[in-house]
Amino acid sequence: MEKKFKRTTVTSALPYANGPVHIGHLAGVYVPADIYVRYLRLKKEDVLFIGGSDEHGVPITIRAKKEGVTPQDIVDRFHSLIKKSFEEFGISFDIYSRTTSQTHHQLASDFFKTLYEKGEFIEKTSEQYYDEEAHQFLADRYITGECPHCHSEGAYGDQCEKCGTSLSPTDLINPKSAISGSQPVMRETKHWYLPLDKHEGWLRKWILEDHKEWRPNVYGQCKSWLDMGLQPRAVSRDLDWGIPVPLKDAEGKVLYVWFDAPIGYISNTKELLPDSWETWWKDPESRLIHFIGKDNIVFHCIVFPAMLKAEGSYILPDNVPGNEFLNLEGDKISTSRNWAVWLHEYLADFPGKQDVLRYVLTANAPETKDNDFTWKDFQARNNNELVAVYGNFVNRAMVLTQKYFDSCVPAQGELTDYDQETLREFADVKAEVEKLLDVFKFRDAQKEAMNLARIGNKYLADTELGNWQRPIWNA
Ligand code: MF3
Ligand code: ZN
Repeated sequence: MEKKFKRTTVTSALPYANGPVHIGHLAGVYVPADIYVRYLRLKKEDVLFIGGSDEHGVPITIRAKKEGVTPQDIVDRFHSLIKKSFEEFGISFDIYSRTTSQTHHQLASDFFKTLYEKGEFIEKTSEQYYDEEAHQFLADRYITGECPHCHSEGAYGDQCEKCGTSLSPTDLINPKSAISGSQPVMRETKHWYLPLDKHEGWLRKWILEDHKEWRPNVYGQCKSWLDMGLQPRAVSRDLDWGIPVPLKDAEGKVLYVWFDAPIGYISNTKELLPDSWETWWKDPESRLIHFIGKDNIVFHCIVFPAMLKAEGSYILPDNVPGNEFLNLEGDKISTSRNWAVWLHEYLADFPGKQDVLRYVLTANAPETKDNDFTWKDFQARNNNELVAVYGNFVNRAMVLTQKYFDSCVPAQGELTDYDQETLREFADVKAEVEKLLDVFKFRDAQKEAMNLARIGNKYLADTELGNWQRPIWNA
């Protein structure tokens, strides 16, 4: 039985403000989220669409260092670029804010304090890699080395991008500082950890038993994490860019970006609705949906829910539609290798053609496996589907209405059996599209919607041969 909700908060992963957004982001997260939100709005449901930039974390400071500017310069530049491109592309956020906002710093800080005071963290001192030349601890992407799983070079301290395995710095073979290139030494440091192992019991039941309807890729990744056994995860870092850990003896420590960023969804809701944001996040009759890419699954299905549960007053996500990746001409999209179709460049090169890209990215959406974007396919879908099928239908309907009915939709006349049958088929398409959208199958929904145009073209062709002089709609 479908549970009835009063309202839905839809979030889309906050992109790092260390570069522009590209078609991989769009296909994976923003286009499907936008379709879903527009669908709920059409049904007159209460819905909020929350977006924003993720402005902390090592990807930002690395770019700043490379360009010789401050992290604030980097996030200012890319936050405005990203926000503007989303607007122009038509992603219909109710708010697009940023994690350097005052509201967010306060809320994330308070969230940490609450968990700390409830005793939800453990404090642990351990040895971590330290760069003696740069005088800095080397967390996450500040350290690179050989991946212990696939043995490719250039894996990061938090993840190997080649094979997707999530790592910790000490897993790397031959670790090197990404700042100075030097070989790091070990040094003691204290951090706060969220003991995920303590949450394993309810997480197992909640995901594996109560949410069997989640997409197989999402469910499968959660299951394999849970089956490996969860470990405590550090929620602080030794960095100078981020939200300071709001405790006395925490000089030089900031919240881990994956602790603060998802709280950004809440902060941005609060910024939009200072008086009623809690209804959207705390009322059990509110529904929460996270649109994300596959590299974000563990954070949205395991870590963030554990944070929300530990805090105690929040609802948990009802679904987490996570997409696989979109490649570009057979090669992995990469910001650092500059291999991407950037949204702001697309908008400049194809003015007015937002919907063509939305269409192609939905037709090729990486919902069940990685997919490939090629310009050849872009051209073919534009010409053979949008122009030849959809455009043709709309054009014929308009031209015939102009020619025979003075550009006005005429009153309905007596319907032939064929008319009735066509109307029935139309209604079937609508019902089918809704059924697919309800379960986040955007690709199939779009394919089904295109059948309206196919049915319409066939109808026009069939009846045109008969007698267009016969005013079939106004007998
Ligand atoms: N910035 C992250 C990424 O691009 C996503 C953050 S999602 C949030 O992979 F939940 F943390 F906000
Ligand atoms: Zn690897």
